[in-house]
Amino acid sequence: MRFFLDTANLEEIRSSISMGVVSGVTTNPTLVAREGVRDFHSHVKKIAQMVDGPVSAEVISLEADGMVAEARELAALRDNVVIKIPMTPEGMRAVKVLSSEGIRTNVTLVFSPQQALLAAAAGASYVSPFVGRLDDIGEDGIGLVRDVAEVFSIHGIETEIIAASLRHPKHVIDSAMAGAHIATVPYKVLTSLFHHPLTDQGIDRFLKDWQELSKANG
Ligand code: E4P
Repeated sequence: MRFFLDTANLEEIRSSISMGVVSGVTTNPTLVAREGVRDFHSHVKKIAQMVDGPVSAEVISLEADGMVAEARELAALRDNVVIKIPMTPEGMRAVKVLSSEGIRTNVTLVFSPQQALLAAAAGASYVSPFVGRLDDIGEDGIGLVRDVAEVFSIHGIETEIIAASLRHPKHVIDSAMAGAHIATVPYKVLTSLFHHPLTDQGIDRFLKDWQELSKANG
């Protein structure tokens, strides 16, 4: 399973890329608004230049024609830009057109395996089941990822599954076990994955033993 970073913050992207563990970025209008971005296109371009892998940027229009027009402009910024399209009938009309033009799409706000199947049928490159938001309403977010992975596997569907709306480390490992191809994680979740108390204790112990040895050797 690969990791994408779920953010529009350039510092977080720079830091994660340098750690060598992140191969793409996902954004959404909330994340972009949080950064106080004035020029959306130039911000997306900056991100796309920082990352070799896919960078998802979301359209705002609700009608297919508007989505397609926005998507063409975003896709022209750099060839790793992927267009995030909401899971609606108009959205799937747009996905069909964009896929015929070779523009990659990430269908977002997916909350059922049926929606994931529709996205794949329309030609989506990625689907994003939202784990945390389903958990928030007392449903089973990881169960959704598992069902989508199973149904895609049964039918040989190549659309990749991005487990999204991940809130903590357990969501990440559970998504991997459930068959997600990619986990998109906020920076805080990514950095929390590194930590284990025994790793910290181990480093501490090695350093102390090394210092003792240095002292003994004068
Ligand atoms: C990513 O593609 C989604 O936009 C994001 O993971 C949503 O996360 P949230 O439910 O925490 O807002």
